[in-house]
Order: sequence, then structure tokens, then C-alpha cells
Amino acid sequence: MIKGIGIDLIELDRINQIIKRNDRFVQRILTEKERGQLAAYKNESRQIEFVAGRFAAKEALGKAMGTGIGKVSFQDIEISRSEHGGPEMKLHGYEHLKIWVSISHSEQHAIAQVVIEE
Ligand SMILES: CC(C)(COP(=O)(O)OP(=O)(O)OC[C@H]1O[C@@H](n2cnc3c(N)ncnc32)[C@H](O)[C@@H]1OP(=O)(O)O)[C@@H](O)C(=O)NCCC(=O)NCCS
Repeated sequence: MIKGIGIDLIELDRINQIIKRNDRFVQRILTEKERGQLAAYKNESRQIEFVAGRFAAKEALGKAMGTGIGKVSFQDIEISRSEHGGPEMKLHGYEHLKIWVSISHSEQHAIAQVVIEE
């Protein structure tokens, strides 16, 4: 049964500005494992795209949960990669939920959609 859906659209330029202004932003949004993946990208625009995509996906999960980010924290959500390169999302404490996520980017935006199945 579908429990919730969420979508979020982010401007890459906004994320770039936040990262430059606040050096703790990435640490707040990404888990340690996700920061490890980020560090593997040497290209700055790819790094911004990566952070924006993860940020959008986590906000979309907050919407799909119906609570927004707050009750669930950015650090409770982890996005890893499937063997085919697609994103896989887990929410700590809600392991019984099946979370479907899709991420896309353009030159200016990142977008993510989440569906939660119970
Ligand atoms: C995967 C694919 C659909 C991505 O589409 P795109 O238009 O290039 O890029 P988008 O910005 O829309 O999407 C990128 C996101 O798709 C997601 N993605 C990547 N592979 C995926 C897959 N197999 N399934 C689902 N989602 C995938 C990732 O989240 C990625 O963003 P991230 O790396 O920051 O997490 C496309 O590149 C494709 O079909 N590739 C086929 C496989 C391929 O070309 N392999 C190359 C080596 S043979």
C-alpha cells in the first residue's frame, strides 16, 4: 500500500551559495557515507549537483512521510547506490517501509521524487 509521495525541486545555484556561506551545511545534510561518495567527485559542479540531488531527495522523503524534515532528520536518511547506479534510500527507525526514490538534474536544477510503500 502506498503510504505517501513527495517531490522536491532545488536550484543548484542556491545550494552552491549555501555551501560557500556555511561550511557545515554538507555535514548537516549528508551522512558520513554520503560525504565519502561526494569526496570521490573532483568536479565542483558535479559535487553541487550531487549535494542538491540528495538534499531534494531527503526533503521529498519528509513530504512523503507527511512530517517534513524535523521529526526525521537529514542524518536519519541515507542514500546509497544500487548495483545499476540508481539511488536507494533508507530511513533509520523505519526499516519496515519500502522507499522508492528517483533523482534527476539539469544545468540549473535538481529534482527528486519519493514514494513510500508499507
Ligand atoms: C541512468 C540514466 C537514466 C541517467 O539519466 P541522465 O539523464 O543521464 O541523468 P539525470 O540527471 O536525469 O539522472 C541522474 C541520476 O539518475 C540516477 N540514476 C543513475 N543510474 C540509475 C539507474 N540505473 N536507475 C535509476 N536511477 C539511476 C542517479 O540518482 C543519478 O544522480 P546521482 O548520480 O547524482 O545520484 C541514464 O544515464 C542511463 O540510462 N544510462 C544508461 C546506463 C549507462 O549509460 N551506463 C553508462 C555505462 S555503459
